[in-house]
Amino acid sequence: MSKPLALLIYILIGFHCFLQNNTYSPILPSPVVYKQTPGKLYLPQGLSIKSSQFSKEALIQFKLLLSTFHSLDTKEAIRPLIRLRELKNVPNGSYSIAISDDIFISYASESALYYAMQSLMQLIQTENDFKYIQNAFVQDYPKFEWRGLHLDVSRHFFSVEEVKRYLDLMAIYKFNKFHWHLTDDQGWRIEIKAFPKLTTIGAWRDSTLLNHYTTTPRSFKKERHGGFYTQEEIKEVVAYAGKRHITVIPEIEMPGHSRAALAAYPEFSCTGIAQGVPGIWGVFEDVYCAKEESLTFLKKVLDEVTELFPGEYIHIGGDEAPKTQWNKCEQCQEVIKVNKLKDAHELQSYFITQIEKYLATKNKRIIGWDEILEGGLSPDATVMSWRGFDGGIEACKKEHYVIMSPGSHCYFDHYQGKTNNEPLAIGGFTSLEKVYQFNPIPKELDAAHANYILGGQANLWTEYISTFKQLEYMAYPRAIALSQTLWCTEKPDYETFYSILSNGHLKQLDLLHVNYSKTSQLANINTKTEKKGLRIELESKDQEEEFKARIQYQNKLEDLDFILKNKQHFIIERTKNETQKIKVSFTSSKTGLNSDLLIENHKALGIPVRYLTQPNQQYNHSPSILTDGQRGSQPWRGHEWIGFDTNIIVFEIELPKKIKIKHVDLSFLKSNGSWIYLPNEIKIENCSKRRNNIFLSQKIDTEIIKVKMGQRSKKLRFQIQTNKLIPIGLPGNGHKPWTFIDEIVIH
Ligand code: ACM
Ligand code: ZN
Repeated sequence: MSKPLALLIYILIGFHCFLQNNTYSPILPSPVVYKQTPGKLYLPQGLSIKSSQFSKEALIQFKLLLSTFHSLDTKEAIRPLIRLRELKNVPNGSYSIAISDDIFISYASESALYYAMQSLMQLIQTENDFKYIQNAFVQDYPKFEWRGLHLDVSRHFFSVEEVKRYLDLMAIYKFNKFHWHLTDDQGWRIEIKAFPKLTTIGAWRDSTLLNHYTTTPRSFKKERHGGFYTQEEIKEVVAYAGKRHITVIPEIEMPGHSRAALAAYPEFSCTGIAQGVPGIWGVFEDVYCAKEESLTFLKKVLDEVTELFPGEYIHIGGDEAPKTQWNKCEQCQEVIKVNKLKDAHELQSYFITQIEKYLATKNKRIIGWDEILEGGLSPDATVMSWRGFDGGIEACKKEHYVIMSPGSHCYFDHYQGKTNNEPLAIGGFTSLEKVYQFNPIPKELDAAHANYILGGQANLWTEYISTFKQLEYMAYPRAIALSQTLWCTEKPDYETFYSILSNGHLKQLDLLHVNYSKTSQLANINTKTEKKGLRIELESKDQEEEFKARIQYQNKLEDLDFILKNKQHFIIERTKNETQKIKVSFTSSKTGLNSDLLIENHKALGIPVRYLTQPNQQYNHSPSILTDGQRGSQPWRGHEWIGFDTNIIVFEIELPKKIKIKHVDLSFLKSNGSWIYLPNEIKIENCSKRRNNIFLSQKIDTEIIKVKMGQRSKKLRFQIQTNKLIPIGLPGNGHKPWTFIDEIVIH
């Protein structure tokens, strides 16, 4: 290997205790007990059953699973035989499997038998074309009663066949709640016979936003998009889910996220003005008017919805409903007055309570997003906590049931990887490991209040997911990590989970042609500050993994190629001249997967930053973040920016020696929808000089702010000031703004 100046390879032999032990259960989610016993049970002719022991539907499902996963069939009167025993007085969902000369399954209920069958599928192995099962004893039951996955079919429509496949995959991992987000601004997806325009008009939009919501100028795909499910199709999906022991919870959004319905029936808005179905994302000011006529309309819609869904719950939304129109609307103000309400928040509470009472007459209960806490929770509502855990905690303390679904761990529309190779997503960063860390029960709750937590759920919003292939990519394998949290009484550590996942389950997903994300298999790329520049290290879960590395310099003809072993590192030396662009690519020799880094080599590359005000821990993913040569991307991808929630931000950097600084560039993120705003003022102090040493930014209206200096300096202190609160008229008004910075470039 050549040894150019800019590159020094240090060999660090890391050690890795990757799990070799094979006594853990191959089943995911991991069962409560798995004990191997000596011997293997071979299945040369398939499996025998006494069909009289099975219910008709259980037998159909069992045969379907056997043929799908193992191309096997059941026969009568051969060995081994599956013997079933129904247990009385054991918790619903519990089962055991004993594998020796035959297979003995005990189960509490039909759903428990179904879970046993799914587990059995995962125990059957193939060796030289022979099917066998390792002798073992399995005992199992779920931890949480609510193990949910959500799907938004409004932002992009998915067919009945695609929804069924979604359910099939959920069933493998013992999810039991399918939250079907059927209505939103961008499309109404359920046939309502009393209001045909909901689907003739509300199910279709003329165009769809291309690129990210925050990318300007905006452009649109000018193509009609839409679709809906007929009531017959809805029944078909509900029955299909039921056979897989999954309850379908429909969501009919109110009072916000209702533009598609109001496009069809503008008379139920405050203004009455007809507007089309929007092809752009976000939160819209037009919501259902709180007048009696709108409530009557929604009750009639719910009359039909409740007939189609046998489950106990209807989700009524309740999130992101601006009160702008309600505050202006005479009819809404009249409802406030007549009912002696304080304000528009109490009006929302009144609205939801009316719906709750109506649904109660049909033996249905409501779930709402955590905004339904504002203005007072209706008496029997279950809260789905999405803006973190706080709403869920508050609801538990008020003795309401809660489903935890915080954005930090459960939003599968977030990015799952750090490389530039990830497809466009809404933002945020929720890796497989982060999902695995999810615990629906926060520390703040005592045992009695924690009992109100029914479980958890991941949400799949589809603004940026237009195909089923991409949906699979976003959902898997993260959904499997979530299933561990929701099912396991005691989940194994992440490394063990990862090894079970990669040893069997990913292959199974390959056989089912699931387009799962391979991002979790990529080595971590760690950057660190160093005396001479930026240190780059690859860290793989597989100690033996090697990488072909290539460095391409903007102004050099020849690339630099070398092999990098796990945990070896190299250093990009800080530029001595002009800023220089460098592309670094790594290709794994094991998986063939590729990751790229684009590095801007500037005068502060790899310089440590000393924070005098602390960043928010949620948005502080690497200590080298502000000087790692990589500007945070636009749109926001969650991990690359350092985030502050203080009004003053102070930090310092110290260069190795005094240099002449022409100007300093600071990049900020502007993402108003996420309450991330540009600062008000940037002050840089040249600490190497006593006088005339303060430099202020000019106008702050672009995302890269240049502060001119023209002085020699070694040490700089940055002081950044933000608005105290977000001004009226902007998203998040009244709250503290967030400030996201990356990177500091010195010229
Ligand atoms: C939500 O993500 N708006 C519930
Ligand atoms: Zn109104």
